Amino acid sequence: MTYTYLTSTRDGAVERLTLNRPDVRNAFNEHVIAELTDWAEETRAAAARHDIRAVVIAGAGKVFCAGADVTWMSKTVHYTEEENLRDAMAMSRMFAAINELPVAVIGRIQGAALGGGAGLAAVCDIVVADEAALFGFTETKLGILPAVISPFALAKIGQAAARELFLTGARFSAARAKEIGLVHEITAGADLDAAIDRFVREVLSAGPEAVAAAKALIPNVWGRPIAEAMPITAAAIAARRVSAEGQEGLRAFLEKRKPAWIKHGETA
Ligand code: COA
Repeated sequence: MTYTYLTSTRDGAVERLTLNRPDVRNAFNEHVIAELTDWAEETRAAAARHDIRAVVIAGAGKVFCAGADVTWMSKTVHYTEEENLRDAMAMSRMFAAINELPVAVIGRIQGAALGGGAGLAAVCDIVVADEAALFGFTETKLGILPAVISPFALAKIGQAAARELFLTGARFSAARAKEIGLVHEITAGADLDAAIDRFVREVLSAGPEAVAAAKALIPNVWGRPIAEAMPITAAAIAARRVSAEGQEGLRAFLEKRKPAWIKHGETA
């Protein structure tokens, strides 16, 4: 599929997606949202075939993503309430589609991740940030609020940080973002790609079905009382133990060899 506002390249089992509207710092409007949603659906299908086993999301130019396009949002004053709701639901579906991709999604953050850009970081499983990058749930500074991204942001940063950062709309450093769980690793800008490649190699050396199952397990278990989680976790491990992939991984360890899913050069 070809896109106007995105570029996507495939490097073996690694899908690299770049937001490509650098003139407006990769802000997203309804067209970008539609393209990102289509891309996520295609990626989900390719991931189900194990053609894609890791995704890296980046932004072209000096900034990862400045969030929702303010010009587009200001025009929505002329929409009916129904049109505004439809628009917001489309944005919600875009975030959910990326959030639920059954592979590891790695965010590459340089410059800034603000508003929906911080939301995009929140739906990544692993986030690597340039030490100079700025983050912010800046919506309240514009008189709006971080609504659509809130379930994804809250799952990462929790209520305590959200109370401060949603209410102030303040910009914060990569170090603070790491402290609250939005970022996993901070590097100098020149070392971003090397850090990401290291995470990619780690992911490719894990069993693809196991990765998908582990990713699905987290939201399924989170927030449940332990007694309710127990049958879910028992069923999850029981299914993996007897699966061909699980058996291959366990046998490979005992036989002191690499499992079949690790191809040459993909070891961590
Ligand atoms: N929506 C629409 N346009 C945006 C945008 C957004 N979210 N963010 C930046 N732009 C545009 C600017 O209006 C500017 O356009 P112009 O060249 O026509 O003047 C262009 O992108 C470059 O922005 P500029 O601020 O000059 O770039 P910068 O590199 O100095 O700073 C940011 C980058 C991201 C830090 C800064 O643009 C910013 O703070 N943006 C607002 C982010 C925000 O609050 N997003 C939440 C939206 S809900």
